[in-house]
Amino acid sequence: MKVITVNDYADMSKKAANMILERVHYSKKLTLGLATGGTPVGTYEHLIKDHKENKTSYQHVTSFNLDEYVGLDPSDRNSYHYYMNEHLFNHIDIPEQQTHIPNGIAENVQQECNDYDQKIMECDGIDLQLLGLGHNGHIGFNEPGTSFETTTHVVSLTKATREANARFFNSFDEVPTQAITMGIQTIMKSKEILLLVSGKKKSSALARLVNGEMDTTFPASILNKHANVTIVADHDALQEV
Ligand code: GLP
Repeated sequence: MKVITVNDYADMSKKAANMILERVHYSKKLTLGLATGGTPVGTYEHLIKDHKENKTSYQHVTSFNLDEYVGLDPSDRNSYHYYMNEHLFNHIDIPEQQTHIPNGIAENVQQECNDYDQKIMECDGIDLQLLGLGHNGHIGFNEPGTSFETTTHVVSLTKATREANARFFNSFDEVPTQAITMGIQTIMKSKEILLLVSGKKKSSALARLVNGEMDTTFPASILNKHANVTIVADHDALQEV
């Protein structure tokens, strides 16, 4: 894994956006894996700013998001559909039919998971997957204990993850208990992975990832096995490494 050290969240966001833009500019066809949460917001802001100023086009880009809460309608302010529209899709020219997010209100969620993997395969897989890091080492919503062999599946969220995400909801009780997430195998099949980590709160998780052995109790540890991972992390996040 290659680690790029940056000063702070602002620098991390700029660096990540530039890495994404390089691929957007130089590919005829590009499939991006996208993430939600607090970490990539600044990266998306840079992409929007660039689109306004430099007219970078996303007509040739297809996207697949990592995850979505089960039970939240796409119009729900806390759904990842809403997040992606607000933070990126509404502000760039990516065609709507080329953006994919698991449907958390699908009647048959298992079918939805199978279809999602199928669609990723039909696009020849993900070229660049953007990832954040959960405090407990989750990637997407793959919680500790998830098999490294999983494809897209339904998960029960741990209390720790629901607590970490409660800041986006009115109360802890409103945080859904389940989600659909790309599996660890799905993520590992991406040709390239860009992991963003910022802040002291993530420092022990990042230290465990960089120094630790590979273990399903810490899902992100599997990234040690991927041939093309870049971690962009700020000083605060790297303080325990
Ligand atoms: C969330 C998301 C992940 C995200 C991670 C870190 O629960 N499901 O995709 O990367 O946890 O979130 P944050 O960036 O807000 O710290």
